[in-house]
Amino acid sequence: MKKHTTLVIEHLEQALSEWLMLEYRHSVKIWKGETVFTNVVDKKTADGLKPLGKIEKQKANTVFSEKNCIILDPQAKKPLKPADFANLDVIIVGGILGYEKPQGRTKELLSEKSKFELRHLGKIQLTIDSAVFVTKAVFLGLDLRDIEITKEIEIIHDSVHSTILPFGYPIIDDKPVITPGLVDYLQRK
Ligand SMILES: C[S@@+](CC[C@H](N)C(=O)[O-])C[C@H]1O[C@@H](n2cnc3c(N)ncnc32)[C@H](O)[C@@H]1O
Repeated sequence: MKKHTTLVIEHLEQALSEWLMLEYRHSVKIWKGETVFTNVVDKKTADGLKPLGKIEKQKANTVFSEKNCIILDPQAKKPLKPADFANLDVIIVGGILGYEKPQGRTKELLSEKSKFELRHLGKIQLTIDSAVFVTKAVFLGLDLRDIEITKEIEIIHDSVHSTILPFGYPIIDDKPVITPGLVDYLQRK
């Protein structure tokens, strides 16, 4: 097993929103190793992301063309396995926020024209940070089947209002691992 696989997050959203930043910050914290943000084309986004990791203007497919890479794509045919990390230089996650119904944006924006191997993390659409959490667990030797994931979570605001997040979050000790700061953010909205 390779000791140091680099986490690459390919930034593919137009804006660096507060929600996206919460997920990016959590992803970096979970991974702990080297993290690179690719496709960071403007100065404002670069300034926002520099405190979190390395920045590259070009896409991962170009920057890491000579490296051994895997792209995480929900539409991949094969599941991610611990053995995939043997000699793996780079694991690539899409910096894409989810919609209620997955729209295949990872394939369209990241993997379709790539020569890299593709892997999925199960049938449920995970958030960026949940995908990084599950990836880290597989990197540490867990099988995907052993990782419990929510189908959705409900954030209760008061006796009448709530927000459904239709995404997978890992469950640890019977509690979903929700992006730190996300509940506060949603309460303010
Ligand atoms: C919120 S998802 C965006 C997915 C997007 N809705 C789509 O249709 O492709 C953010 C990123 O996490 C990773 N991801 C999320 N769920 C995944 C899964 N089940 N299998 C593989 N990768 C996943 C992918 O890299 C994806 O680009």
